[in-house]
Parts: sequence; C-alpha cells; structure tokens
Amino acid sequence: MSHNVIHKAVFPVAGLGTRFLPATKAAPKEMLPVVDKPLIQYAVEEAYSAGVRHMIFVTGRSKRAIEDHFDTAYELENELEAAHKDELLALVRSVQPDDMVCAYVRQNRMLGLGHAVLCAEPLVGKEPFAVLLADDLMINQGPSILSQMVDAHTKQGRSVLAVQEVPLDQVRRYGIVAGEPAGKQLIRVEQIVEKPSPEVAPSRMGVAGRYILTPGIFDEIRNQPTGVGGEIQLTDAIARLMQREAVYAFQYQGKRYDCGSKEGFLEATVELALQHPQVGASFRDYLKGLSL
Ligand code: G1P
Repeated sequence: MSHNVIHKAVFPVAGLGTRFLPATKAAPKEMLPVVDKPLIQYAVEEAYSAGVRHMIFVTGRSKRAIEDHFDTAYELENELEAAHKDELLALVRSVQPDDMVCAYVRQNRMLGLGHAVLCAEPLVGKEPFAVLLADDLMINQGPSILSQMVDAHTKQGRSVLAVQEVPLDQVRRYGIVAGEPAGKQLIRVEQIVEKPSPEVAPSRMGVAGRYILTPGIFDEIRNQPTGVGGEIQLTDAIARLMQREAVYAFQYQGKRYDCGSKEGFLEATVELALQHPQVGASFRDYLKGLSL
C-alpha cells in the first residue's frame, strides 16, 4: 500500500438521525447495527481496505459510543481473555487495528455537510482526503468502493465523487452531476446541483456518500454562502472547486444501501444477513418459510 496517496478519511457523524427516532434518542445512528456490526464500522473498514490509516470523526454531543467503539475495551478484553474466548477477543480487537489512528473533532453547530468537512481541516491539512457518509452502506464482492475511487484518483490526481444512476423521482434526495465521459467509469463533471427537482435535474446521476477531495475544497467551503435547507452544502463547494480544477464522477462497481432510510436499512439487514457465514443459511430457510 506504499503507493497509496489517500492517508486520511473524514466521517461526518454529528447528525441527529431523526429518521430513526426513538432508536436514536440517546444512541448515535451510526452505531445502529446491520446484522452484527455498526454502520460506522462498515465505513471505517471500507476506508481501511483502501489503505487509509488515519480516521477523522466529525462528531457531536451524544456520540460518545463511537469513540468508545474504536478504543480499547479493557474490561471486556480482560473478561474474554480470562474465559479463553479467543475468537471473540480477536473479533473485538479487530475493530481497532494497531496501525489505525482515530481522531475526533466536534461540529458544535449543525450547519450542514460542507461545514462538517470544514471542521476536519485542521486534522486533514493540505493533502487529498476521503469523505465517507456512514448512512450509505457500500458493498462490493471485489475491491471496496473507496479502493476503486483511490485508484481513479491516483490516475487523475483530482477530486473523485462516487455516482450511480437513480430513478427520476428520487433525484431530489441527491447531489446530481452531469458532464462528459472521460474514460472507463469516469465522467468529467460540468454541473453539480444539490437535491434538484426532477424538472430541473441535469441528469439522473446521483452522488453516493463517498468522495475523494483535494484540499482546495476547504477554501471553497469557507467562502461560501448557505445553500439548500439553510446549510453549507458540500455540493455547492464542489461546484466552485470545478471552476478551478477538474472534478470527476466515478461509476463504481458495487451496491449501495441507503441506511439513512428505514427501507434501505431493512434491505441491507436482509441481504447482509443472507450472506452472513453464521446465520445466512438458516435465515434463508426462515425467509422461505414465510407466507408473504
Ligand atoms: C448528502 C449530500 C448529497 C448526496 C447524499 C448521498 O445528502 O448532500 O449530495 O447525494 O448525501 O447520500 P444527505 O443524504 O445527507 O441529505
């Protein structure tokens, strides 16, 4: 992995998770488990698999559980060790590999995704970095979505956004891009709009929650007025960055589950349960036996 040029990933995790109330009243939505792993761990593992070792969480009040999850759990580990539960001990320790560094910064006002990314600037510095939204659970049997994007970034040396085609009646949920084909799976972005109505959407290419951004994005966020929903939108900052340097959209291989919605969360739970080495087979039998 020495050729890897993306060392740092930013995880904006300060959001309130109102769509999952009351589950998220006291617990972070990023800690909701899909089968047996919290959403945030899937995203961190994806970043790790892409060679990222420095994880930066933009966090907020009532998100302590995330910090604890990526820290050593002394009592638990001692108990498991004493009971010779070696497999469980290895599982618990694998959450935080020795070469992974976690850092936390608070987003003390809820001013949007762009603002959350700007909060990470002191920890990112002047190098390209990844942003992963844990709500979007991204699964691929081959190289992870972020690894594919790191490869695309290595070739282009520019910002890369993950995109997928979305139904027209859903364009208002996404940042939508349009542009010119620029090679295999790549589009050179000419337009990007946050959550357009279907009538004005420039295409059906929706941005999924994975970005590789050049550090120039920070100046664009800083100098930007609020956008849709009174928030400082990352999408608007990307639109401005595009005026100075090329930005690419990348049509990734793999599947995205929108775990920010109940439907997406349930789909992910069912499909990942079916693939799970311990419960997959019996869960499949159970589903077959349901009279739907
Ligand atoms: C955010 C971004 C949007 C992107 C989406 C992907 O929106 O603002 O551009 O398409 O994530 O999940 P949110 O889902 O946080 O409203």
